Amino acid sequence: MAEIGNDITRAKALLAQGDVVAIPTETVYGLAANALDVAAVTKIFDVKNRPQFDPLIVHVSDLVAAQSYVEDIPAEAKELTRNFWPGPLTLLLKKKKIVPDLVTSGLDTVGIRCPDHELTRRLLQTLSFPLAAPSANPFGYVSPTTAQHVAAQLGDRIPYILDGGACRVGVESTIIGFEDNVPTVYRLGGLSLEQIEDVVGRVQVLTHSSSNPKAPGQLQSHYAPRKKVILGDIAELLQQYPAHTTGILTYQQDFHSPFQMVLSPDGSLEQAAQNLFAALRAFDRMPIDYIIAELVPETGLGRAINDRLRRAAAL
Ligand code: TXA
Ligand code: MG
Repeated sequence: MAEIGNDITRAKALLAQGDVVAIPTETVYGLAANALDVAAVTKIFDVKNRPQFDPLIVHVSDLVAAQSYVEDIPAEAKELTRNFWPGPLTLLLKKKKIVPDLVTSGLDTVGIRCPDHELTRRLLQTLSFPLAAPSANPFGYVSPTTAQHVAAQLGDRIPYILDGGACRVGVESTIIGFEDNVPTVYRLGGLSLEQIEDVVGRVQVLTHSSSNPKAPGQLQSHYAPRKKVILGDIAELLQQYPAHTTGILTYQQDFHSPFQMVLSPDGSLEQAAQNLFAALRAFDRMPIDYIIAELVPETGLGRAINDRLRRAAAL
């Protein structure tokens, strides 16, 4: 069973010898290994059961470190890093040769980001290599937002989980690429569209190309709990799905069911994002057959929350 602790020196030693270690970030926990070591990166795919056509994000301590792994950074990308790094923003940029093809699934771009979590930032600063890290969940399942979530599923496959507490943001990073120099959002995430557009103006959003492996990161049925998720109006759905075998996921409203998770009684989308994945996991432990869920307001982090709910329902 993985040891859980906050010992950066131990995490560093394991990573330096080519092992896989779970690390906290502000978004979700990552399953990290030396991004420049093909054998170590192979272990990530094995532990997660992840197909190798789905590329990994490379984590660095700052923009200067990023420049060792990517070619010329477009002006908008630089502007975004100035505003939002460290933070929940992944940039797709042309990779340098030093980044193994395995990390990028053979693409000529690499996803790169600088996570905003104290422990992991200190870890990255002491390492002489960047960390490739997908979310620390079995492929296709909900991302983990606590060390305990990681331990529950991958604890017997990795030696160490660096415990940085519950993730502050709770949904994965926003992914932006620069196809023909036009900023394009490929995954809605912890940095809102509004925040991005304040800096670079209007961006296009391309997040729904179903299960085309050429558009990795956009597999439709993803982020899913084991129970079937049905989206709609809760009061209406309750007429079809019996309350004693159905989990209820709401934004604010209390339906007084024992199988209910309310994302944010006060109507805060930030709080709802923080709670979303733990709520989906909690339903999988309840004696229910279905999860009925409502969407949240389609603004700010609400877009990322709704995106995850739609994908969870797309089975
Ligand atoms: O918040 C996050 O981004 C977390 C933390 C650990 O940093 N990481 C994360 O990684 O969510 P992962 O592997 O679960 O999701 C990354 C997504 C994948 O779906 C992958 O297909 C896409 O990013 N991706 C990575 N590199 C890419 C590339 N070069 N081109 C297109 N998509 C890419
Ligand atoms: Mg993932």
